[in-house]
Amino acid sequence: MDQKFLTEEAILAEITGSWAGKRIKVFSETDSTNIQCRRLAAEGWPEGTLVVSECQNAGKGRRGRGWVSPAGTGIWMSLLLRPEIPPQKASMLTLVAALAVEKGIRLGTGLDSRIKWPNDLVIGQKKICGILTEMRTQGNVTEHVVVGIGINANIKEFPEEIKESATSLYLVKGEEINRKKVIGCVMAAFEEYWETFLQTLDLRALKEEYDAKLVNLGRQVRVLEPGGEYTGLCRGIGSEGELLVVLPDGEEKTIFSGEVSVRGVYGYV
Ligand code: BTN
Repeated sequence: MDQKFLTEEAILAEITGSWAGKRIKVFSETDSTNIQCRRLAAEGWPEGTLVVSECQNAGKGRRGRGWVSPAGTGIWMSLLLRPEIPPQKASMLTLVAALAVEKGIRLGTGLDSRIKWPNDLVIGQKKICGILTEMRTQGNVTEHVVVGIGINANIKEFPEEIKESATSLYLVKGEEINRKKVIGCVMAAFEEYWETFLQTLDLRALKEEYDAKLVNLGRQVRVLEPGGEYTGLCRGIGSEGELLVVLPDGEEKTIFSGEVSVRGVYGYV
C-alpha cells in the first residue's frame, strides 16, 4: 500500500545502495525535477542526489514536449551524476537508466516491462516510463548529468491525447503500487549497472541484457528522421547504445538517438 505522501525519510528507508538516492530532496510541487536537480548540481550537491516531486507543473519530455505529472500518483524523479566522461558518451546513460528502471519495476512490483529504444519502458503496447537525460558541459568536459525518470505508477486515468499510448503500473497490476519501494529498487539497480558501465565507459557488457529487454528486437521498425523515414528490421544495439537496423536491401543502418524517433510499423511499439 502506498503511503499518501513521499517524504525524504520514507524514501531513504528504501535506499539500500551506497550512493544513488543517499541525498534526497522532495517537493510537494515544483516546475520540473530536472530543473531543480540542475539547480542543486550548480550549488554543489553530490553525485547520487535524488530530486523527487509529488507533482510537476512544467514536467519536461523529450524534444521540447511536456510530461503529464499529476499529484500523488507518479514517480517523478531526477538523479544527479558527475561522471568523468566526454559529453558525447552521456547519451548512453539513458540506456543504463532504462535497464535500471526495468529491473527496479520488476523487483519493486513483480511486473515485467520492456525497453523501447532508447529511453521508454512499455508494458504491452503502452508506455509506462520515459527518461530525459540532460547535461551541463564546459568544452569537452561533462560537469554534470541529470537523469530524469518519469514512471506512471498509480495514475488511474490518462488525458484523451495519450490514452491510447500510455498506461500505469496500477492499471496493469490492478492494485496500488508502493512508489517508495520502486524508487529504492531503481536506485539499487542503477548503482549496479552504473558500475558495469564505468568499467568500459560503453555498453559492451550490458548490450546482451539490454537486447533481451528490447521490445524492438527482431521487429520491423519505422525510423523517423528529420529528413524522411524508412523501415527495417531491428537487430539490437551496438556497444555505444546505437540501434542497428537492417534495410530490405541488406544495408545496415546505425541509428544514434537525438532527433530520430523509432516506432513500430503499426503504431507506437
Ligand atoms: C519522455 O519520454 O519524453 C521523457 C519524459 C521524462 C519525464 C521525467 S519526469 C521526471 C523528470 N523531470 C522532468 O521534467 N522530466 C523528467
